[in-house]
Amino acid sequence: MSTHIKDSAVFAKTVLMPGDPCRAKWIAETFLHDYKLVTDVRGILGYTGKTKEGKEISVMASGMGVPSIGIYSYELFTCYAVENIIRIGTCGAYQKECHVGDVIIATSAYSNSNYGAHYEAKGIHLAPCSDFSLMYKAYENSKKLGIPVHVGPIFSSDIFYDADKEFYKTPQELGILGVEMESYGLFINATRLRKKALCLLTVSDTFVNKDERDLTQEERSSSLTKMVELALSLA
Ligand code: HPA
Repeated sequence: MSTHIKDSAVFAKTVLMPGDPCRAKWIAETFLHDYKLVTDVRGILGYTGKTKEGKEISVMASGMGVPSIGIYSYELFTCYAVENIIRIGTCGAYQKECHVGDVIIATSAYSNSNYGAHYEAKGIHLAPCSDFSLMYKAYENSKKLGIPVHVGPIFSSDIFYDADKEFYKTPQELGILGVEMESYGLFINATRLRKKALCLLTVSDTFVNKDERDLTQEERSSSLTKMVELALSLA
């Protein structure tokens, strides 16, 4: 029995997970066939349908932040027969080569979240990362689909409005590609439950390329298409 997802919901083995419920709806309506709304508890919309190749796939929102994706990914992995969760989100870029609109495959997630502390096993620090088989397939498929990608570590922050405007310089120096707010929690849940997770991101804003402007709300949808097609190729 699930606390935050409808008990009657049926999910495919692979679930795409944007943060925003409206984006989950847009993905179902734009990319899926024979789709059905399977859950809407607290406005967190989840759909199950088929890709254009006829493969079963689900898309459900995670909400914002590590605690929220922590709850939803845990329930999907433990209460339903979900094996793979692919987060599809946006990020702020820390590196000059990551331009607004570019796609990133996250290898691992640094974080300032305390979520992992709960699961540290006898002093062993966690190394939250994407599943290699999903990451490899995503990289291979990006080449087949002609979608250029950046591959590297990201930062899952608990803070969107940072008090320190210079903070970005530290993750930038560490070679971190960009910042979002969820992957760390998803990767930890997948690791401890021996399931698979991947994170694909589209750069929506940048801390370093001052001449580039943020994606508008309208542009966000169209620029997400490449990333969604890549995620759907993993069904
Ligand atoms: N910070 C945190 N999360 C984000 C950002 C950002 O700048 N852009 C998109 N998601």
